[in-house]
Amino acid sequence: MTAPDHPANRLRPHRFRALGPLTGRMRVPGDKSISHRAIMLSSLAVGHSTISGLLEGEDVLATAAAMRAMGTRVVRGDDGIWHVDGVGSGGLLQPETVLEMGNSGTSTRLLMGLVASHGITATFTGDASLSKRPMGRVIEPLSLIGADFTASPGGRLPLTMRGAHPGVPIRYELPVASAQVKSAVLLAGLNIEGETTVVEPVATRDHSERMLRGFGADLFVGEENGARVITIAGPCELQARDIVVPGDPSSAAFFVVAALLVPGSDLILENVGLNPTRSALFAVLRDMGGSIEEQDRREVGGEPVADLRVRHSALCGVEVDPAVAPAMIDEFPVLFVAAAMASGRTVTRGLEELRVKESDRLSAMAAALTLAGARVEETADGLVIDGRGGDPLPGTLEGTRVATHLDHRIAMSMAIAGSRSVDGVEIDDVTPIATSFPAFETLLDEAAR
Ligand code: S3P
Repeated sequence: MTAPDHPANRLRPHRFRALGPLTGRMRVPGDKSISHRAIMLSSLAVGHSTISGLLEGEDVLATAAAMRAMGTRVVRGDDGIWHVDGVGSGGLLQPETVLEMGNSGTSTRLLMGLVASHGITATFTGDASLSKRPMGRVIEPLSLIGADFTASPGGRLPLTMRGAHPGVPIRYELPVASAQVKSAVLLAGLNIEGETTVVEPVATRDHSERMLRGFGADLFVGEENGARVITIAGPCELQARDIVVPGDPSSAAFFVVAALLVPGSDLILENVGLNPTRSALFAVLRDMGGSIEEQDRREVGGEPVADLRVRHSALCGVEVDPAVAPAMIDEFPVLFVAAAMASGRTVTRGLEELRVKESDRLSAMAAALTLAGARVEETADGLVIDGRGGDPLPGTLEGTRVATHLDHRIAMSMAIAGSRSVDGVEIDDVTPIATSFPAFETLLDEAAR
């Protein structure tokens, strides 16, 4: 018998059944990547910042708690606006407790960057999923800056690091396309005398660059031999500001795919961030024949945003160009669901990075979709999916459950698969959804009402 507090006893299984048409208007929650950065940068600014539209998911709350533990004031007002009193660049205090990162790789890697150039020691821990993820990719450049690490075997959590003050300015070429690694180095550079440079052979999401500039950092973006070269001149004094967080395209993605798949759907998703480094999924879905129309394109918080009108469409399989992968890296699980119901074959390649996300998303999605009746072949770096030509998936048999491996995006993708299935799709645990999209189930019910 397992103890009452054993994780296996806290699982919340759920069967997601076929939905009626998704209609009306809905608003997706704030962007997760931007929310983390908003809390971190306002915590380092001088003075009082406000953040509206912050994503109040577990991952972002872990960032807020860590910043508080390092001496900043981060509070939520009754009106939902967050207030942050920053300590100024270089002003972080040594945390007296372990920094508990839960499931959040972004919190961990970006905060490691901040600690790296402060003369403080911090210990990071995480859940079973985060404890399997590679931290060597940030330990390497941050060690060059002068930080010192004691990590668990394989460069994993739990780890303790001692930051370096003064830190050494470095020029670092990213060996993997990772916005988290890029951001960790740039955030370290905020408190380093001199120029800290990141060379990015393949462009990744640029929220850090946009927001650092917005806070007044000396940040320059250039180009060398086709690579993006980003330089921050430190130390930087950041000025407090009022931030508006746009809606998260990665959260919108689940509803976009649901509306494309469920006959009769005609749904408007308001305030969806369309930063070109994030929005490749929508282009791929349009190539597949999806009707996704942009309305009222505008700018929110220095980011392009629009409302998306999505109508049920007949989808065809495609070959996805590996070059667009970084601009939709979190959206492959739900793309695989769309592909499973399209007509013809979808081929994806160049997706090795998916194996080191919250779960191994290639094997997790191959297993999950196969269990729900899809035809999927897993390759070393992608999935090949033969779609059902517009027919729903059979769904999972009574008594069998999709394994979500503590991965919110596997859980939500398979919920969407269930929304267009004959018998429904049962997943082993819905609790991970709260890391990025606490209102997901409520909004899905409302859209299909
Ligand atoms: C993120 C970057 C991406 C993405 C993650 C959020 C960020 O990770 O998968 O969900 O906010 O910088 P990598 O940097 O590992 O590609």
